[in-house]
Amino acid sequence: DILADHEIPHISKRKITYSTIKSSPFLAQQGTEQVRVPNVIVLVGLPARGKTYISRKLCRYLNWIGIKTKAINVGDYRRSACDLDNSEHEFFSPYNLKGTQIRDDCARRAMEDMGRYLQSKEGEVAIFDATNTTRERRQMVIDFCHAPERDPKFRVFFVESVCDDPKIIEQNITDVKINSPDYKGRMEAEQAKEDFMKRIENYKIQYEPLDEDDDYDLSFIKVINAGRSFFVHNVAGHVQSRVVYFLMNIHLSPRSIYLTRHGESEYNRMGRLGGDSPLSENGMKYARRLREYFEKENVRDLRIWSSQKIRAAQTASFLKDLAAHTEFWKPLEEIDAGICEGLTYEEIASRYPKQFNDRDKDKYHYRYPSGESYEDLVARLEPVIMELERQSNVLVVSHQAVLRCILAYFYNVNPSELPYVKVPLHSVLKLTPVAYGCNAETIPFNIDAADTHRDKPANLSPSRSVDEALATLPKRVVGDRKPPTSNNPPPLS
Ligand code: ATP
Ligand code: F6P
Repeated sequence: DILADHEIPHISKRKITYSTIKSSPFLAQQGTEQVRVPNVIVLVGLPARGKTYISRKLCRYLNWIGIKTKAINVGDYRRSACDLDNSEHEFFSPYNLKGTQIRDDCARRAMEDMGRYLQSKEGEVAIFDATNTTRERRQMVIDFCHAPERDPKFRVFFVESVCDDPKIIEQNITDVKINSPDYKGRMEAEQAKEDFMKRIENYKIQYEPLDEDDDYDLSFIKVINAGRSFFVHNVAGHVQSRVVYFLMNIHLSPRSIYLTRHGESEYNRMGRLGGDSPLSENGMKYARRLREYFEKENVRDLRIWSSQKIRAAQTASFLKDLAAHTEFWKPLEEIDAGICEGLTYEEIASRYPKQFNDRDKDKYHYRYPSGESYEDLVARLEPVIMELERQSNVLVVSHQAVLRCILAYFYNVNPSELPYVKVPLHSVLKLTPVAYGCNAETIPFNIDAADTHRDKPANLSPSRSVDEALATLPKRVVGDRKPPTSNNPPPLS
């Protein structure tokens, strides 16, 4: 039975982030009331130990899974507090009293901003990115987080990066440090490297690593030699265990992640959503060309992860013998459009105008009746992201909405923009991790395909008519889409 548009229950905009779930692990009981517990993640470690890398990556991950997080880098406060001559190694000597005072002031100002962020309704987790190499400095952060006026107190977790592998440190300095605003354009590479090594020596004079006896009451993880081993102590609560799990899965080995949609399908040609139709003739052409591309690319130990839908499995099957392993993953299947599966956008606009408008108003949270929202998709894809982090070279063959979510993870795209990320058919996106982020190379294949992207409609009026809604749909060049003729959805192939 098909429900009329006005009969469809109002469940689609339900928000399911952790902060709104009553029994959420972010909430603590206070008397009869439940209150939100902000979390602070404090980085610890000598310079060039990957603290900023870890902060940014963690921040991206937590935001992507719906936990509002901000990373605060004390180095940025220092750079704006004093001129860049104060970035040379002498400034960081523990015997330089003026330097020490400026650095403490910067840390204090950064903490105050962190406090404001966590006390606003906006923030759930703050990442305090500084060296924090002395017990005194760490105590200052704890005192701030547990100050009497904090109600509830902020929960503190330390993440220490310990690295004594000279190769990793040298690489970090060459890849990142000599290009930082402290040196870029001010010193030659060799001179900058030398100065940075002296900066590290200055920090070593006072460095007090976290210790399971001396810091018995604290919660922390030590990441040793870029994840070769870990020491985990006194983990408390959901955020901390998520952080530990994430840190234990990431790695720094060079590799690339290739993302592609399946080749054009019969349904794409008709402008129909979802379904399980096979590849069109152009889609088959793409699958063959994709194979040629990967033959040339000659990727070592390539793993292919494909959605289980026919169009994706067909695309991946052309490459099977080039891969070390091919797997078909249910979580990589396209967003479930529920009662709108198999319809065109035009059919949805005329049959379910209210649904069509609601989706345009908040596409990320909108859940298709009997189907999924983009927010649901992110939750479904979390294990895929975690596994992608663990792996080496991977090709993902999936669908438009799924790849938007995966790209949003790598590119820190916010939820309101995520459902509008452009992922055209017949192109490969190659992501290669570098320094703090990822290089992206788009490889377009010159093979005709339907355009399935719909831009965010501008100036959406709350009382938009069906005709106005239909006018927002792109005029298609490719495909043989027919106007809706009946009230019955087409059969799914
Ligand atoms: P600083 O104290 O000077 O700000 P930092 O500790 O924040 O230095 P980053 O700027 O994050 O260091 O260094 C980035 C480099 O660290 C990247 O090239 C990245 O590959 C590397 N890196 C990432 N994680 C680790 C780790 N756990 N151990 C060592 N290096 C790492
Ligand atoms: O049209 C192709 C498709 O993969 C559909 O199956 C899916 O419903 C849609 O794209 C997702 O894109 P959007 O969220 O923009 O409707």
